[in-house]
Amino acid sequence: MINYPLPITDYPRVARLILSMANDTPQILDGKTTARTIKARLKAEIESLQPQMGRPPGLAVLLVGDDPASTIYVRNKQKACDRIGISSFGRTFPASTSQSELEETITALNEDPRVDGILVQLPLPNHLDAVALLHRIDPQKDVDGLHATNLGKLVRSEIGLRSCTPEGVMYLLKEYGIEISGKNAVVVGRSILVGKPMALMLLEANATVTVAHSRSQNLSEITRSADILVSAVGRPQMITSEWVKPGAVVIDVGINRIPGNEGKGKLVGDVDMTAVKPICSAITPVPGGIGPMTVAILLQNTVWSYRQKIA
Ligand code: GUN
Repeated sequence: MINYPLPITDYPRVARLILSMANDTPQILDGKTTARTIKARLKAEIESLQPQMGRPPGLAVLLVGDDPASTIYVRNKQKACDRIGISSFGRTFPASTSQSELEETITALNEDPRVDGILVQLPLPNHLDAVALLHRIDPQKDVDGLHATNLGKLVRSEIGLRSCTPEGVMYLLKEYGIEISGKNAVVVGRSILVGKPMALMLLEANATVTVAHSRSQNLSEITRSADILVSAVGRPQMITSEWVKPGAVVIDVGINRIPGNEGKGKLVGDVDMTAVKPICSAITPVPGGIGPMTVAILLQNTVWSYRQKIA
């Protein structure tokens, strides 16, 4: 509590006041702008590599079924490819497609020299074995970083293709100069797509990492210990102000559609932005935070895989 008038010589209290005022407007970690910068860099890189390579990079995104969210994500990925000069070899399959047809498609894409990256959009219909499909992708074309070979390289801190969303989080933290080493990082969610690789990347950056999940007891107590809190659970606005330590950096990976005005859907994250914004030091918005970073890193992975062929 500040008692006015505040003597100007009371430097510690002045500093605290300035800090508390600063905390009312946390830094917004702008994934949209950062992603735009990455894409501009990749576009220029592709233009300069293409004469040497004799072809543009190629990405194949496979979509099975007509899940509305997946359809939008895949369309965004293809549009982003078009804009920067990556050829799309994507295909959409009916929900009833068999495992063997998808396996044969992946084998053909593995052998296609025009294709540098292959991604199977998740989730898949229940009758399909997602892990078997992911393991069929040539690890050098596994731009999602979900093949056991690439996940193993991540565990060992070796160079390799890495999962796009957590890599996007790390990129954004670095872009904004957020210190990770020695900090308490809490990841909520343990999926193979986000939670597990996220925890490994934070650990690699010397954070003290806790992975919390749906069976964790005293979840809000765990999240309150975080200097860096990453939420990837897919529960709209679950993280409220009581879950967040004052001054924490909050990364919201959730993209949830809830009913909005006039019957229109509205996108919200896992974090209750209005409640958390006044107490955190930095936060990612939804939309415009981690979503665009995931797409930008997918393109970056594809160009990386393309570049490997120069040798
Ligand atoms: N579904 C939602 N996000 C992703 C992603 O990053 N990769 C894949 N393969 N599927 C997803």
